[in-house]
Amino acid sequence: LVKDIYRETEKYIDKDIVVSGWIRTVRASKSFGFIELNDGTFFKNIQIVFEDNLDNFKEVSKFGISSAIIVEGKLVATPEAKQPFEVKASKIILEASCEKDYPLQKKRHSFEFLREIAHLRPRSNTFSAVFRVRSLAAYAIHKFFQDRGFVYVHTPIITGSDCEGAGEMFRVTTVDLNNIPRDKEGKIDFSKDFFGKETNLTVSGQLEAEIYALAFRNVYTFGPTFRAENSNTARHASEFWMIEPEIAFADLNDDMELAEDMVKYIIKYVMENAPEEIEFFNKFIDKGLVDRLNNVVNSEFGRVSYTEAIDILKNADKKFEYPVEWGCDLQTEHERYLTEEVFKKPVFVTDYPKDIKAFYMRINDDGKTVAAMDLLVPGVGELIGGSQREERLDVLEKRMEEMGLNKEDYWWYLELRKYGGVKHAGYGLGFERMIMYLTGMANIRDVIPFPRTPRNAEF
Ligand code: 4AD
Ligand code: MG
Repeated sequence: LVKDIYRETEKYIDKDIVVSGWIRTVRASKSFGFIELNDGTFFKNIQIVFEDNLDNFKEVSKFGISSAIIVEGKLVATPEAKQPFEVKASKIILEASCEKDYPLQKKRHSFEFLREIAHLRPRSNTFSAVFRVRSLAAYAIHKFFQDRGFVYVHTPIITGSDCEGAGEMFRVTTVDLNNIPRDKEGKIDFSKDFFGKETNLTVSGQLEAEIYALAFRNVYTFGPTFRAENSNTARHASEFWMIEPEIAFADLNDDMELAEDMVKYIIKYVMENAPEEIEFFNKFIDKGLVDRLNNVVNSEFGRVSYTEAIDILKNADKKFEYPVEWGCDLQTEHERYLTEEVFKKPVFVTDYPKDIKAFYMRINDDGKTVAAMDLLVPGVGELIGGSQREERLDVLEKRMEEMGLNKEDYWWYLELRKYGGVKHAGYGLGFERMIMYLTGMANIRDVIPFPRTPRNAEF
């Protein structure tokens, strides 16, 4: 495999080897030619040289891009050349040809165009690098938590609760849409449904993760989540993956420490294990990437309260599209100003007004704010959202009443507070946002293999 040849070159030099893969380019003159071959196991190609001593020399010269071939030959070192070695071919067999109308011919394609051919784009350099990094980052996250003894919990995809209370859920139903059963008031009668009640695709595994944290202490989820928010931005998708650790006997400070350690760990792991890909991003996608990532690993993340942040924004020399006032939600322009202009590094904003946050967050002593944190990072904005959870049953019940939540629907969540409900905290990391941060890719559609965004489900 080409990966082995790059990683343990000495073992293969001057040996007869066989490589198979897809052609990226062919250049041929009358008597010799070069093929750039990619075998899928490594980001980089391997160069094949062939000469007119091959009995199929003429055909080989005309092989199209993305034809699949098997090459027998000798690996030779080429210290003077751009690439460290090449294969001198003694035999080239065509395994599968590629037709002339192949859309990914050798030239620069726009990301918009490549999105339309999501079945072919993993063969391009950029997407080969993106999806290798995505796989590696997923592994790094599991390794980070498993090394610390966290238990991986699979929370349900289909659920009857709305964790974030924003009502941005995709319905899951077996109700016959041509014959919708209705109750006396004309509302849909979900008792006829497969699940006997109204259900949705989950927006977060947090509430269920809390159940497991109160049994296993430290747990995490890593799975798909769904949001039916119609925001057509470069940072929102309807289907995205979220990592949600939940830790017991822990407060908001412990939560932030864990988040900071995790982000640094993922960056270091990917930089160490995908140096070719990171170099590629640094060269072609985002020129300051490596410096920025190194800075993050070596910096201490900033911390600022929401109230302080509002003061900073009010006194900023910049004019914002949305003016700020204590109590307002921070917009992307505010978040980016704080992390990019003021702190110039990742920053936690803490203690938001309770009115703009979810019901489960712990009320602070001031009665106005909650023990919440968002991690903002340059280039991306909000990467993580988390909080210490309200563990006091009476306070939680009062808050749910205030917010018009039906307590019966959350009976099991409330029971957790009655039965050994210690203080606990957690957060959610948007996996795609983390990949954007790691690669410098600017659009969430380009870091998930099959993006689900408004009016987009071709594949
Ligand atoms: O801030 P959010 O909504 O927090 C929660 O869901 C909590 N229940 C997490 C927890 O405490 N366990 O979402 C968490 C993160 C955001 O910071 C963002 O990175 C990402 O999930 N995210 C999205 N990513 C892509 N597309 C969307 N539509 C996203 N919505 C949130
Ligand atoms: Mg959030």
